[in-house]
Amino acid sequence: MTTQDQHDEVRIIDAGAAPVRFARGWHCLGLARDFRDGSPHEVEAFGTKLVVFAGEEDGVLHVLNAYCPHMGGNLAHGTVKGDTVACPFHDWRWKGATGRCAAIPYARRVPPRAKTRAWTARERNGQLYVWHDPQGARPDPALEIPEIEGCHGPDAGQWSDWSWQQIRVTGAHCREIVDNVVDMAHFYYVHYSFPTYFKNVFDGHVATQYMESAPRPDVAMDTLSGAGALRSDASYFGPSYMIDKLWSDVGDGVEMESVLINCHYPVAADSFVLMYGAIVKKLPGMTDEQAAYAAEQTSAGLAKGFEQDVEIWRNKTRIDNPLLTEEDGPVYQLRRWYEQFYVDATEVKDEMVRRFEFEVDTRHAGEAWRAEVSANLAAVAPQREQ
Ligand code: FES
Ligand SMILES: [Fe+2]
Repeated sequence: MTTQDQHDEVRIIDAGAAPVRFARGWHCLGLARDFRDGSPHEVEAFGTKLVVFAGEEDGVLHVLNAYCPHMGGNLAHGTVKGDTVACPFHDWRWKGATGRCAAIPYARRVPPRAKTRAWTARERNGQLYVWHDPQGARPDPALEIPEIEGCHGPDAGQWSDWSWQQIRVTGAHCREIVDNVVDMAHFYYVHYSFPTYFKNVFDGHVATQYMESAPRPDVAMDTLSGAGALRSDASYFGPSYMIDKLWSDVGDGVEMESVLINCHYPVAADSFVLMYGAIVKKLPGMTDEQAAYAAEQTSAGLAKGFEQDVEIWRNKTRIDNPLLTEEDGPVYQLRRWYEQFYVDATEVKDEMVRRFEFEVDTRHAGEAWRAEVSANLAAVAPQREQ
């Protein structure tokens, strides 16, 4: 092979294979209020089905395996009776708190080993979380999802309620969405925002993206990122739950503060449910209705952004060996961080959890994009004048 041939060598994509196990960590299943209607709810997650229900007496949200160990009935199609869920097939009653069978009305005795899996669950920030660990260990308190001040702090009353949405994404592993943490350039092309500052910090189970961005005046925008200049501090706490604190310039020197949640849970190796929500801090003089409307608008903007991501994921291939430039951010380091959630706890290596910082130099990209934006604006200017 000549030197020239070596230079001409074609880069072959290594698509790898999605992991068969699901990440260890806390996963948000949705807004708590959506599970509190007195009925059992089915959630398809972690390669199985779960049932979520609120106990009538304890008021607690419980998560059990949906399939009944008796003869496989689906508890999500059953009925809440006290703090148990009753199977629709033969009315065995399963206790939400422990997973034990509390009663079998037609039988003389409950088999002593009648116990199903009760998932460790938490309600916080108005949301429900479950702990998933393929090795069955209890959650380490250091990994708890933090409380969001707009939900729990002394100023919680100044914030709107959650506006919340979800989409099921098929044909892609959830790593695709996590990759976004470092992917500076896609914000310009896919989300039509213009990153001016971009930095990542990975530390322990937290991966953060600090970004400042401007809107793209060449794109007719009604999405969130089109509103004005944005500053965003977005952190994944564990494999699937991101809290994004956002400050947006809404004009006249007024800055609007919001908190976005971007989270997901795996359904199967190649599908997941993506959820996103927003709360906004009321500006002075804003009514509850106006704040709720602002949160809805923010969430609708997010929806557009995610739909654009989803369209990419639906059509792309998995790639384990991405070919990168300096502007692409630390994709490989991020994936090393992400790996910690897919190996046994004893296999977590220092390189997966040690602090890592990288700031992308956005100057060159900024120059190229400014030129492109100007050219786009110039191209439409004559039409505008007509
Ligand atoms: S299958 Fe559930 S009670 Fe029989
Ligand atoms: Fe994205």
